[in-house]
Amino acid sequence: MLNLADLRQEYTRQTLSEAEVLPDPLAQFNRWFEEALAAQLPEPSAMNLATVGADGRPSSRIVLLKVVDRGFVFFTNYLSRKGLEMEQRPWAALNFYWAELERQVRIEGPVAPCEPELSEQYFNSRPKLSRIGAIASAQSQPLPHRDELEARMAQLEADYATTEPPRPAHWGGYRVMPRYLEFWQGRRSRLHDRVTYTWQPDNTWALGRLAP
Ligand SMILES: Cc1cc2nc3c(=O)[nH]c(=O)nc-3n(C[C@H](O)[C@H](O)[C@H](O)COP(=O)(O)O)c2cc1C
Repeated sequence: MLNLADLRQEYTRQTLSEAEVLPDPLAQFNRWFEEALAAQLPEPSAMNLATVGADGRPSSRIVLLKVVDRGFVFFTNYLSRKGLEMEQRPWAALNFYWAELERQVRIEGPVAPCEPELSEQYFNSRPKLSRIGAIASAQSQPLPHRDELEARMAQLEADYATTEPPRPAHWGGYRVMPRYLEFWQGRRSRLHDRVTYTWQPDNTWALGRLAP
């Protein structure tokens, strides 16, 4: 049996206080993201996306953050499990874990498909084989044999040998609009810092702190 009980780490790198965070949580996120980039973390834009099915059961998976504007945008298949769950329950939770910086960011809010223009722009920026892959794969559907997928891919590669593959209607972005965020900085003896932003009815952010 694995002995996991003794695996533990002291977090001592940095601190986080209400006084030092930026008033706008998106600006604060950008600041931390830039620090994650500067630290050359392996995949700083990888985030966990949690959704809930119509039956109330949660599911989660990793996706890549691609745009930060007024919300957090990622791209996927609208007919995937996550896509169908977000259609039925349009609220999502995101989580970034930047281990080397001893940081976690949690984001929650309503989620909706982004503008088709943004999906189009990002789709067209992807390598051709990734674009063809998006057409070839019915994400989250049962796939009895991998050969079927490979054959579909080969056929599409031949079909689009001299033309550009168009974005399928079922592929595009979602934007999570932040309504609640938490910036977590690991501290000594498990006395971590947790600074929160909660969206208020008067369209301002309320800053808070939670016990670790
Ligand atoms: C590092 C990493 C990045 C990923 N990025 C994406 C992504 O941006 N979009 C996506 O649809 N799936 C991405 N995936 C795959 C998803 O985790 C997941 O397998 C897929 O979206 C199907 O999820 P679903 O069946 O719950 O809809 C990524 C996986 C990993 C490990």
